[in-house]
Amino acid sequence: MADNVVRVCAQSEVASETVKAFEVGDHRLAVFNIGGKFYITDDECTHASASLAEGMLEDGVIECCLHFGAFDVKTGAVKAPPASVALRTYQVVLKGDDIFVDLDKNAAGEPA
Ligand code: FES
Repeated sequence: MADNVVRVCAQSEVASETVKAFEVGDHRLAVFNIGGKFYITDDECTHASASLAEGMLEDGVIECCLHFGAFDVKTGAVKAPPASVALRTYQVVLKGDDIFVDLDKNAAGEPA
């Protein structure tokens, strides 16, 4: 396993169609469960300072609770203003019952 792959939580901690925030080292990450598949992004909205885990998750899009900017959870792409900067995604690594994150790669597996 690569150096920067670290455990985030157990798969059972994030129920289907929900999102939960976890502290991993210096990072605060949002873990999403969409149809039984897991996705990880930064938890902080790129618009200002709000936790996306406190937002509304619907159809793979997370809507920020502060100004209602929205992001595609799988790609980090902006889906609604006032957010204008894409959300950082991370590569998810499943191992046994646990969810790990590769902090050096985005959701597409590219160096980030
Ligand atoms: S802080 Fe998220 S949209 Fe403004």
